[in-house]
Amino acid sequence: MAIKLDFAETKEGMMNKGHFLEAYIWIVILAGISFLLLVRPDLNAVRISSIVTFALVMFLTEIVSVSLPRGGGTVSVSFAVSLASIIALGPEATAWMSAIGSIRLKDLQGKIPLKIVLFNRAMLALVDGLAGMAYVAAGGKVGSFTFSRSFHALAVCAVCDAFLNVTLVALFIGLKEKKSPVYIWVSNIKQLMPNYVALAPVGLLVAIVYMAYGYIGITLFFAPLIVARYSFKRFLDMRQAYLETLRALAGALEARDEYTRGHSERVAAISTEIGKKLGLPLDKIELLEYVGFLHDVGKIGIRDSILRKPGILSAEEYAEMQKHSLFGAYIVSGISLLGAGAYWIKHHHEKYDGTGFPSNLSGTRIPIEARIISVADAYDAITSTRPYKRPMTYREALDELHRCSGAHFDPVVVSALEKAINDRVRVSPAPGVAN
Ligand SMILES: [Fe+2]
Repeated sequence: MAIKLDFAETKEGMMNKGHFLEAYIWIVILAGISFLLLVRPDLNAVRISSIVTFALVMFLTEIVSVSLPRGGGTVSVSFAVSLASIIALGPEATAWMSAIGSIRLKDLQGKIPLKIVLFNRAMLALVDGLAGMAYVAAGGKVGSFTFSRSFHALAVCAVCDAFLNVTLVALFIGLKEKKSPVYIWVSNIKQLMPNYVALAPVGLLVAIVYMAYGYIGITLFFAPLIVARYSFKRFLDMRQAYLETLRALAGALEARDEYTRGHSERVAAISTEIGKKLGLPLDKIELLEYVGFLHDVGKIGIRDSILRKPGILSAEEYAEMQKHSLFGAYIVSGISLLGAGAYWIKHHHEKYDGTGFPSNLSGTRIPIEARIISVADAYDAITSTRPYKRPMTYREALDELHRCSGAHFDPVVVSALEKAINDRVRVSPAPGVAN
């Protein structure tokens, strides 16, 4: 699997991104071109038709690649093709094969800036070429494969490929987004390593069949790869439709109360930004967004006379209102896609000092995600227009949250929110707030 810079490569996305990113792009392009010129394959040993065949297979695997949700790049099985090429043709031929075969239709349609097209080709030539050299240096044999001799070399090759690919992409994203490349690297390597491990045996099998049966062997493998791709795409489509349904459910709930309209959407966005500042893994951040959106879904079980009551609730009404976190957890517990989300919803009204509800959890016994939603929920509530009070400015709101840090809120989470706001990262102010 290769990571592609789909989320970073539109012409608009590349405007005014700074000299360091520009320099980095051209350094990689020049390094890639120099590498290709230095490691020209011995065309007597490797037939051009072999390189073209592998490049064609890689091109086809890229056509059937699947875009991950939330700008997470593209999943393709091209890593298996690179690995097969390294084993069957050697690192030099593979560097050229990857540079040519990784070109995608949109690269040719002028949708991508030329320097990004060149950057991707240069990056993949370097990644696959150097990983191939690592394979040979570790004792791997080109043109034949014996498990006793080459298996550990294959593992070295796969690790090098993953390491280099993720490193070069993380540097790109880090410079473009002005974020720590280390954080991006760690998140990506954790997500991608299982894919590399799973695809390495596929690459080995493609190589073995190619070396035994020639071109026909590769086509035998291509059909199941396409079937796997369509299964994965259908899974992603269904998942997306499912999440949209959940979103609609939360939206329907908000329609009952004009003052909370958009609240869930904003809590989800603010929670996501806090999660990023705290360095949560990307899969947790994605889940946090959905759970942030659904955190008050349990209010569906609360009577309108309580839910829409302007002003202070009586003790009895407040006790009734408190049940919404348990109702919400119950509703969400049946949704396997949301994992531990039900637990986060159950505890989103716990307080740091243990005086919250429903379980009087305190400190780090409250799940971090619930502590985040709690701060995001409060921030949006106090900066929003309500019938009984004026909205606070974001500065007043932060002062208020700091004042309640340690008692109501986790101080670390409040500080993360402040950093997110100060950095002006997508935390849009609630309506009616004069910032
Ligand atoms: Fe709530």
